[in-house]
Amino acid sequence: MAYGGDRVDSERFRVILALETSCDDTCAAVVTEQGEIRSNVISSQGVHDRYGGVVPEIASRHHLELIGDVVDDALRQAGTSLPDLNLVAVTCGPGLVAALLVGVATAKGLAAAHELPLAPVDHLHGHVAAAFLGPVPFEPPFLTLIASGGHTLLASVSSHGPDYEVLGQTLDDAAGEAFDKGARLLGLGYPGGPALERLARDGDPDAFEFPTARRLGGLDFSFAGLKTALLYRIRDLGPDEAERLRADLAASYQRAIVESLVIRVERALLQTGLERLSVGGGVAANGPVRDRMRSLGIELHVPPRELCTDNAAMIASAGRFVDVLSYPDYLDLDVYATGERTLIAR
Ligand code: KG4
Ligand code: ZN
Repeated sequence: MAYGGDRVDSERFRVILALETSCDDTCAAVVTEQGEIRSNVISSQGVHDRYGGVVPEIASRHHLELIGDVVDDALRQAGTSLPDLNLVAVTCGPGLVAALLVGVATAKGLAAAHELPLAPVDHLHGHVAAAFLGPVPFEPPFLTLIASGGHTLLASVSSHGPDYEVLGQTLDDAAGEAFDKGARLLGLGYPGGPALERLARDGDPDAFEFPTARRLGGLDFSFAGLKTALLYRIRDLGPDEAERLRADLAASYQRAIVESLVIRVERALLQTGLERLSVGGGVAANGPVRDRMRSLGIELHVPPRELCTDNAAMIASAGRFVDVLSYPDYLDLDVYATGERTLIAR
């Protein structure tokens, strides 16, 4: 169905444009109020590879260069245009301030030009709200595991949000960070998760024993010891052996991350009595993570890979459930870098 200027239809099918620029992906999406994805454009910045991680100033500059075209593509693919929108949603944090500012400034400009309301969205609420998108939304209550490059948390989801009861989170590195740091130790590029997963396919996950911080008890995660264990194992093996056993190291390391996640998920299911699980964030794109969660035998929702890694469709989804700001109340809306102001707080 086209949205080209049919005002009657646009009343029936409210349309949201969302922007997401919290890290190194420049994203725009058009989603209906019912959660149907009309377009979901993601432009990944390949330039950070040579630095082994995301450089905030470079990410910001690339967002500036890309955002106009990405928004145009999202509108064109959705068959809609700015005057037909009903709401603009944007990620305000947590993330890289200079990167977030590009999305928020663009969203303010687009919304203000058409006097549209604006929905300020928390990035983590977005990852949770990916589950609420069509064609078959996963409805609360459920347990959610969000594992990304910046965050690893378990939360009890009893509503569409934005407030959730956080049950556990990482005490040091995030799960995606553990993938990225391990990949770096194994000589792989950034982002390390997909590269490590590929290398691990040829390896034996039982070849080495790596720690899962099982003794930590409770529902918090810790990945710093795992990364150090890999570092020492590579040193002990020496360069030639480590090179020969690279795939085994990758497979065993990946397995430790996966089991570390599964241990906490199983504990949380037991503790809460919840019997349904949603998994999100970039690490949920990982095949063994998806397979292992499936093996738990409970009702499971894992979004398609493009909705696990950063995207704007999830931000539009969350935008449906936050208090929106009317024009011009959002003109002084600010961004935030850390989880302190996140809407999802313990
Ligand atoms: O959610 P996301 O796209 O961005 C953040 O909010 O951080 O997650 C990115 C993280 C990176 O650490 C990346 O290495 C990891 O997700 N990741 C993966 C895979 N795809 C992305 N980790 C393991 N296996 C994958 N296939
Ligand atoms: Zn993310």
